[in-house]
Amino acid sequence: MTEVTAVVPQGGSKIIIHPATVRVTHWLNALAMLVMIMSGWRIYNSEPIFPFRFPVELTLGGSYDGSVDIHNEDGLAGALQWHFAGMWLLAINGLVYVSYGIVSGHFRRTLFPVGPAAFLRDAVAALRLRLPHRLGTYNAVQKTLYLGVLAAGVIMVLSGLAIWKPGQLQELAWLLGGFEAARVIHFIGMAVIVLFLAVHIALVIIVPKTLPAMITGRSVIDQAARRE
Ligand code: HEM
Repeated sequence: MTEVTAVVPQGGSKIIIHPATVRVTHWLNALAMLVMIMSGWRIYNSEPIFPFRFPVELTLGGSYDGSVDIHNEDGLAGALQWHFAGMWLLAINGLVYVSYGIVSGHFRRTLFPVGPAAFLRDAVAALRLRLPHRLGTYNAVQKTLYLGVLAAGVIMVLSGLAIWKPGQLQELAWLLGGFEAARVIHFIGMAVIVLFLAVHIALVIIVPKTLPAMITGRSVIDQAARRE
C-alpha cells in the first residue's frame, strides 16, 4: 500500500503514513516483546548466567505462594508458559510483517538505502538537534536502528530455538557455539532489544507527532515540507 491522499485541509494533505499491516504488526510485536522480555527475565532469575537477578516485580510468571524462594523457582512454570505463548505471537506476527515488508516493497521504500556515511551525517545532525523529522520518511539513524532490531529479532529466534530444542536442533546449537553460548547470545540479543526500546521510546517522546500516525496511520503533512 502506498501513501494515499485522503483529505486536503489548508496547506497540507491528510495522507496514510503507515499502512494498516505495518501498524497492526507493530503493536502486536510490541505486546509480544513485552511478554517475552518480562517472562524471560523470570526464567533467567531461576538460573542466572551473570551475578545478578532482575527485580521480580518487573517479571512475568505464575503467582507466588510463598512456599518457594520467589527469586528462584517460584513462578518458573508460569513464566515458561508466558514465554511460549509470546513466542508464537512474535514468530507468526514477525513472519507476516517481514513477508509484507518484502513483497509490498515497504522495506525497499522505507528502510533502504542506508549506509555508514548517511548514518554518521544524520547521527551528528541529531546530536546537534538539527535533524528535522518528516513523517513518513525515516532518517538514516532510524533506518539503522530498525534494521538492527530486525536482525536482533532473527538472532533471538535462532538462539531461542537452540536453547529450547538443543537435541533436535544440534546443528543450530553447534553453529551458535553450544547450549551455554546460545544462552549468552540470547541474553545479549535481549539486552540489545531493551536498549533499542529505550532509545525508540525516548525518540517518540522527543517527537510525539510520530505516535498518533503509528496508531491511526494518518497525519496532516505540510505540502512544502514534502517537496523538500
Ligand atoms: C510502547 C512501545 C513502542 C512505541 C511507543 C513505539 C512507537 C513507534 C512509532 C511512533 C513509530 C513510527 C516512527 C516514525 O514514524 O518516525 C515506530 C516504528 C517502528 N517501531 Fe516502534 N514502538 C514501540 C515498540 C516497538 C518494539 C518493541 C519494536 C521492536 C522490537 C519496535 C520496532 C519498530 C519498527 C521496526 C518501526 C518501523 C516500522 C516500519 O515502518 O516498518 N517498536 N514505533
